[in-house]
Amino acid sequence: MTIIASTKRPRVELPMPYGWFQVLYSQQLSVGQSLPLEYFGQELVIFRTEAGEAKVLDAYCPHMGAHLGYGIRDQAGGGSRVVGDSIVCPFHGWQFNGDGQCTGIPYAERMPPRVAKCEQVIPSWQVREQNQCIYVWYHPEGIEPLFEPPQIDEAMPDTDDWGELKIYEWDIATHPQEIGENAVDAAHFRFVHGTPEVPEPTVMRFEEHCRFGLLETEMETPKGRIEGRIENSSIGPGISTVRFSGICETVLMANLTPIDAHNTKAMYAFIQRDGNGQKVGRVGQAIIDDIRQQMEEDRIIWARKRYLEKPMLCDGDGPFAKFRRWYGQFLVAETRDD
Ligand code: FES
Ligand SMILES: [Fe+2]
Repeated sequence: MTIIASTKRPRVELPMPYGWFQVLYSQQLSVGQSLPLEYFGQELVIFRTEAGEAKVLDAYCPHMGAHLGYGIRDQAGGGSRVVGDSIVCPFHGWQFNGDGQCTGIPYAERMPPRVAKCEQVIPSWQVREQNQCIYVWYHPEGIEPLFEPPQIDEAMPDTDDWGELKIYEWDIATHPQEIGENAVDAAHFRFVHGTPEVPEPTVMRFEEHCRFGLLETEMETPKGRIEGRIENSSIGPGISTVRFSGICETVLMANLTPIDAHNTKAMYAFIQRDGNGQKVGRVGQAIIDDIRQQMEEDRIIWARKRYLEKPMLCDGDGPFAKFRRWYGQFLVAETRDD
């Protein structure tokens, strides 16, 4: 039998970007719970201490390599146990806190030297919990956070005016830059999503790690066509907030997290104003259904398209070059050949 080496290159040859990335919603991790995570091409474990703080560590126990995210016996099917501020390895019961220090070995009389010296024995990740989301900082070179995630008022846990999160997730077989480009791609709205006009971006600003865009467009609603505004802002490559106004006020937290260099998890949460006894109703649901449908349409393109470094653009296309220059600041190759 002849073996033919594959000549297929990956469709997108870009490194994973650095930044803050959502890994869970707060509600998905209760006190004392732990869960395995697979992001950035790595195995991780997340747990919530008894004091309520979310912590993220590399998954593998430095004792003999068990995965900390999978419990056994009464914990089978869930994560490992959490005691106080530490996660307990299911294999031999060693305990580790959120800084990756070993806080206990139940059967040892003399601690291994690194444990005795309180050294970090498992890599730990920076975590922020706000906007009902849990974010971690990823940088391929291990550089500490260069900015902070945004504060989204509508997503504060106890706000009366805004309703609960409506959560949708997709695994998409592409790099997050390709998905992010959607925001500057005015023309595709007409062809992929069938919106009546090519919407005009009225504002498009790129400042350091932030991006802000404003689109004015007509939206189809059960009450006919209505003029709508869509404000779209990003903090780094992972966290975007889209605010729709015109018909029913809706905030979309549209977060993208690299599963690995070729696959992205899209975590979308909609929040709608439902204060003053007003119900969100059909119009509100129509906006959500519309975005969900757009996502299904876009992913057909994303999951198969190739990234072109030099696309052949025309004057009606959006500011792709600007967008890529901005996005490029987050792309740091993991290994440098110098
Ligand atoms: S492998 Fe984790 S305690 Fe032994
Ligand atoms: Fe789209």
